[in-house]
Amino acid sequence: MELHIYKDAQAVSTAAATLIAARVIGQPDCVLGLATGSTPLATYRRLIELYRSGVVDFSRVTTFNLDEYRGLESAHPQSYHHFMQENLFRHVNVDRERIHIPSGNGDEDAVCRTYEEQLAQAGGIDLQLLGIGRNGHIAFNEPADHFPAATHIVELTASTIEANRRFFDSAEAVPRRAVTMGVGTILRARAILLLAAGADKADAIHAMVHGEITPRCPASALRLHPNTVVLLDEAAAARL
Ligand code: PGA
Repeated sequence: MELHIYKDAQAVSTAAATLIAARVIGQPDCVLGLATGSTPLATYRRLIELYRSGVVDFSRVTTFNLDEYRGLESAHPQSYHHFMQENLFRHVNVDRERIHIPSGNGDEDAVCRTYEEQLAQAGGIDLQLLGIGRNGHIAFNEPADHFPAATHIVELTASTIEANRRFFDSAEAVPRRAVTMGVGTILRARAILLLAAGADKADAIHAMVHGEITPRCPASALRLHPNTVVLLDEAAAARL
């Protein structure tokens, strides 16, 4: 695990966008794993700027998102389909046929199985972008007794519902279930880029880097991956 510490969140985003753009320039048909949440937003804005200025071309890129709420229609303003559309896809020239986000609806087993099949057909993920939850979760893989191997359905924890309620009218409106890539799915990516900024991530970053490798801190599994780069601001790195 390679760590880089930057002065602030803006520098983290610039570094992340630079690494992603470099990947797309060097491998125009790469498969990118993408994330939602507040952390990658500024990275997506920088990638849009790089696209608009003609630096990067997404026309041959394939994308797979980490997760989606269950029970929200794609058009729901808080669905991750909508998030990706609004914050990245509609601003760049990604081929709509090459965008993959697990479905928030339909038969759960079929959704999970289909997603893993699509990942395999695409040849796996070249570069996976990740955030980290305050409890050490990655995607919707919450602290648990085992590392989930593949795309699966999860019940969200109280802390994740609380963290996400700011986007909904009330805590009751936050979906209780989600579909997510497993920790195993994420570890199969050939390269991983994890971003974290802010003091509220400092404990999770400390546990990921220095704690035991345990499913109680899902992000700790990234230490088993041979090519993980972590970009932090000083606040998130404060406990290292
Ligand atoms: P955040 O979420 O980027 O909104 O902090 C990260 C995560 O929960 O994975």
